[in-house]
Amino acid sequence: MTAIPFKENTVIVVFGASGDLARKKTFPALFGLFREGYLSDTTRIIGYARTKMGDEEFRSRIKEHFDLRDRSESLAVQFLKMCTYESAQYDKPEGYQKLTDGIEEFEASRGVDRPHRLFYLALPPAVFIPVAERVRKYCHPGEKGIARLIVEKPFGRDLATARELQKKLAPLWKEEELFRIDHYLGKEMVKNLIPLRFANSFLHACWNNRYISSIQISFKEPFGTEGRGGYFDSIGIIRDVIQNHLLQVLTLLAMERPVSGDAESVRNEKVHLLRAIKPLNKENVLVGQYARSEDGKKPGYLDDETVKPGSKCITYAALTLEICNERWEGVPVILRAGKALNEGKVEIRVQFKETKNGIFSHVSRNELVIRVQPNEAMYMKMNNKIPGVSNKMVVTDLDLTYSQRYNKFYIPQAYESLIRDALNDNHSNFVRDDELDISWSLFTPLLEYLEGPDGPDPVPYPYGSRGPSQLNGYLAKNGYVYQGHSGGYQWPVTTPEGAHKSKM
Ligand code: BG6
Repeated sequence: MTAIPFKENTVIVVFGASGDLARKKTFPALFGLFREGYLSDTTRIIGYARTKMGDEEFRSRIKEHFDLRDRSESLAVQFLKMCTYESAQYDKPEGYQKLTDGIEEFEASRGVDRPHRLFYLALPPAVFIPVAERVRKYCHPGEKGIARLIVEKPFGRDLATARELQKKLAPLWKEEELFRIDHYLGKEMVKNLIPLRFANSFLHACWNNRYISSIQISFKEPFGTEGRGGYFDSIGIIRDVIQNHLLQVLTLLAMERPVSGDAESVRNEKVHLLRAIKPLNKENVLVGQYARSEDGKKPGYLDDETVKPGSKCITYAALTLEICNERWEGVPVILRAGKALNEGKVEIRVQFKETKNGIFSHVSRNELVIRVQPNEAMYMKMNNKIPGVSNKMVVTDLDLTYSQRYNKFYIPQAYESLIRDALNDNHSNFVRDDELDISWSLFTPLLEYLEGPDGPDPVPYPYGSRGPSQLNGYLAKNGYVYQGHSGGYQWPVTTPEGAHKSKM
């Protein structure tokens, strides 16, 4: 990693500045960094988009999504003064030329001799390459400074289109100049996976197929595609969150220890792990599409007028991966994700093998749960004797709920964390080209089958439910032992009444 000795006078240009992503994520993240003292007030932020508007209108639009916390408005006022807006076309050189003139003028006025420019593309795929091309041509400072390009998914929709995109991008922007965002890599609990695994010898010792029986990574959202059905219809849940977010989480959870903490060492290990994943078994996939809620109040996916009538788009999927290496052979990894479910939650469940023999062979399995969101937490379900004269056992947990243990800490939003990394030129939490290529190699055959003429019809599930009713059977078939509230497990506190009620 090349160290960047300057953090002052950085210029950040956000393309697609009037769009949803920029307004809801990028600018609020930049403001969050500023509010927390991680962005210098010498930074210059420029929004660039086709929509015509002046600086003031732009400022009031982006401010709508700022998290002002308990601090005074004055920070927002100060931040907004650092922001200006450029309205121009994406396909004509004039806009870029004007942009660069403005940037150079700013840099000259600050006496900058080594420009540091960060270009953030919050853009739809159709204009992605044309903009990357023009930014390279008109706005890159060349040898005299540093330019970085932050890009967002979708990075193609299958292996061929992803490679095509990469083929066009590679001659323009070197890999070290690119930051491919997968915002899950910026989430606190995901960033904690490497420390958790490699700084705790007790976990490290049992992190293998000898002790672990299954892994589950699940993503649940309580809302449907309302408002973006048209976009989602050609994407589906596998491309939307599984091929990227959940797979990325898995790589960090299952990879070997990197030789050092630098970005390339970490990403090399992620790639090794991805290479060890067997081709996906298309027979072993559960797919669903949400229908109207049981009370009829929430619409079904097909009720969305922007969706193709009769669409077979998958809004729920559960699939099982096999990792073919010494550590993980025989441990099923279930990735599941769904829209319009009964709750919003992202979590990792690592279930340990049962205690087969001996005096405690009847007890529940240990399970390490890492709750990514909401309310970051990590807890290990374990067996314990009920306190007091009883010798009965109860399932309890070693609980690290962040809001209790770290309640004075500020947990940054994923985008804040990632933009900060990009400003520091740290690529660890960004996706490298080869990771992307392998992930598409894995998922493309499955997607072709699911979307082809022989693909199964998605199972309907009611809006607001747990997903397709076949889910429990699917999990059981793939090695996950559902223990429910067996063993008197109560979260977060075990009470004598509850514990005694349990069948032990
Ligand atoms: C995005 C998907 O990448 O991630 C969305 O396109 C999804 O469909 C979102 O809602 C989930 O992100 P988060 O941070 O809200 O869990």
